Amino acid sequence: MKLPAPHVTFLRNAAMEEFILGCDAMHAIMKVVNQVAPFDVNILLTGESGTGKELLAKIIHLLSPRAENSFVPVNCGVLSGLIFEDKLFGHEKGAFTGAVAAKKGCFELAHRGTLFLDEVSELPYENQVDFLRVLGDYTFQRIGATESITVDVRLISATNRNLKEMIRNGDFREDLFYRIQVVPIEIPPLRERREVIPKMVDHFLNRMAAKYKRAKPDVSPEVMDILLRYDWPGNVRELSNLVERVFIVNEKACIDTGCLPSDFLWHFRDPPEDIDLHQVRKDAETRAILQALYRTVGDREKAAQMLKISPRTLRYKLKAYSIRVDRNGRPQEGPPPS
Ligand SMILES: Nc1ncnc2c1ncn2[C@@H]1O[C@H](COP(=O)(O)OP(=O)(O)OP(=O)(O)O)[C@@H](O)[C@H]1O
Ligand SMILES: [Mg+2]
Repeated sequence: MKLPAPHVTFLRNAAMEEFILGCDAMHAIMKVVNQVAPFDVNILLTGESGTGKELLAKIIHLLSPRAENSFVPVNCGVLSGLIFEDKLFGHEKGAFTGAVAAKKGCFELAHRGTLFLDEVSELPYENQVDFLRVLGDYTFQRIGATESITVDVRLISATNRNLKEMIRNGDFREDLFYRIQVVPIEIPPLRERREVIPKMVDHFLNRMAAKYKRAKPDVSPEVMDILLRYDWPGNVRELSNLVERVFIVNEKACIDTGCLPSDFLWHFRDPPEDIDLHQVRKDAETRAILQALYRTVGDREKAAQMLKISPRTLRYKLKAYSIRVDRNGRPQEGPPPS
């Protein structure tokens, strides 16, 4: 077997070192990855936001014989119509107003490498059929071209949505689903592999210490207990952001509960002296609604389904509790209203 170039070995080792496993479920995933990476099968990575889909996609690429060529990520969420076609298939000079020079699309850029279709669930329905056609023989034309181009790409797709449910609702083509999902890999949310949290915290602190050229602090047992109990709706990304935030604003040798931001500690505050059942209910419902909106990336219909209430009831509660989220379902600045 041909040995990979030294820079590929370096990048591969760096990515593998970056990716913390630390539990049976992730070891099982890596086993599958090692089995399928060398072959040109299309892989669909599923998992909530921040679970590590993109990082794993890069690792699969680096473990494949395509590692010396490009890994091209494309976010399907921001593209539609002609912009989508242009991004994926490119254009010839003069193909449309503003096309002053010919430009390669992502398929061509990923030739002999890997094309990573991020947020594949967001592919506009009207573009899905064209896309499926190209996946048949990887032959297409740039916009405005007369000649066809054939490329050799390996496809890895990722989504945090349930594609089977989208198929049932008529939002995603079933034939496209089976084309992109030859091997499905589901990355569990962080709250289902809490045992990895201490290892991850240690890893992120090492990284911060190196990045900011400071000594690595210890973590008090109380803080670790809080981190282990939290639900992490934003998964590994949320944990890594919190560690960075805490590291930057505290220069103590040991991170204790006083170092944790108040909006984070809000989730763990003690109940007040006089327990007002209405307030308790409001707090609990607010927290559950915020988590549902976060996990469904702001999709109210899905959030209502997750909460087992009607969209109308959800609308009512959002108003009654003054819950405000941005369009991705992330809580707006500050702690949720109490
Ligand atoms: N197992 C892990 N070990 C170490 N770092 C991780 C791990 N999983 C994810 N990360 C880190 O968490 C962050 C989020 O990961 P990534 O972008 O791959 O998630 P994602 O699933 O693609 O999220 P989204 O759905 O929001 O795009 C990155 O900084 C990544 O390096
Ligand atoms: Mg991603």
